[in-house]
Amino acid sequence: MHSELVGKAGGGKVRASSYSVKSAVLAHLGGSGKHSHMPQPVLIAAELKNLLGPADLADLDITWLSADQPTPKGDYVAIVPLLSRWVGGTEFKNLPALIIVANCAVGYDNVDVVAAELRGVIVTNTPDVLTDATADLTWALILACARRVIEGVDVIRSGTWTGWHPQQLLGLELRGKTLGIFGAGRIGQAVGRRALGFGMKIRYASRTPKPDFERETGATRLELGPLLHESDVVTLHTPSTPETKGVINSDTLARMRAGAILVNTARGDLVHEEALAIALEEGRLGAAGLDVYTDEPAIHPRLRAAPRTVLLPHIGSATRETRRRMAAIALANVRAVLAGQPPLTPVYRP
Ligand code: NAP
Ligand code: GLV
Repeated sequence: MHSELVGKAGGGKVRASSYSVKSAVLAHLGGSGKHSHMPQPVLIAAELKNLLGPADLADLDITWLSADQPTPKGDYVAIVPLLSRWVGGTEFKNLPALIIVANCAVGYDNVDVVAAELRGVIVTNTPDVLTDATADLTWALILACARRVIEGVDVIRSGTWTGWHPQQLLGLELRGKTLGIFGAGRIGQAVGRRALGFGMKIRYASRTPKPDFERETGATRLELGPLLHESDVVTLHTPSTPETKGVINSDTLARMRAGAILVNTARGDLVHEEALAIALEEGRLGAAGLDVYTDEPAIHPRLRAAPRTVLLPHIGSATRETRRRMAAIALANVRAVLAGQPPLTPVYRP
């Protein structure tokens, strides 16, 4: 295997070789490419329909696939799945002509990349275009937790508000406090840059140092243990991998400061949900702001019932502009590859 995962933080993307891409397309077309003007059969998540324009879809023979339908068998050359659709060994077996999986998300833990690589199938994602939207939503969760926004809304809605009180719903003042970022890639760094405006000190844990980020923000790199110990707000921004799954568990929660806030807009399985619910029930943790869950759309019942949570339905990248750009990049990857060009945003290099 000569491939290498790409798309790491800080840009520097490695392009898939156009030779191997062209070979895969020509092999599919029977060697000569003489049918390349024929519309190519592709599977596209039906939920993306209203985000795509005619130019994104021209010359494709599209089968729209809704989230509740299983992935069909067939001669499709491309699939554009949502992050909720698993694409692995069975799907590769059932889609023998597949050339590209163009995931409509930056995270690609729903795709078996090793199986794809063994089959010579290109995998692409949608980096960069969703960084700001997701960093903004992370801050919405940080502020909602720190300033007890949901409890305030509940007081108003329940009709129990009796007027201004000097000790009502006292929250955490962010200025001078420490933000701990686990995973300082595109989104983690964007969250860190926003912290400067709130007067926070920044700590981060990452596999590799980020000198530019440190220069720009004064951030300091720490191991996860000290980061949890020093931070008033901990925010998670790694992908879901065998190394990061369950990284927040009863042991690591016990290392967090009493009253600290945990925010997760990365992937749900980074957090052991029952352990988090217990830490909230026992009042050890100040609050948790979550956008993602281990078994979406299910949420651990104890976590759903836990106090001081702000729970959102995986809307990190959900602005009109960003969702359009994500869909457009996914289709641009398909069109590039079917035209024999390198993919724009590959997750591994053949
Ligand atoms: P990215 O630029 O690739 O950043 C990921 C960072 O995680 C990288 O800096 C990487 O470190 C770091 N990392 C990986 N494994 C690690 C480990 N074991 N320990 C410490 N750090 C580790 O990705 P991104 O664009 O910021 O996106 C991050 C994740 O956010 C995505 O994978 C996705 O799951 C999630 N996401 C969620 C939403 C939402 O709607 N809630 C939206 C967008 C993204 P190195 O730089 O050292 O390699
Ligand atoms: C959303 O969760 C993404 O990975 O883009």
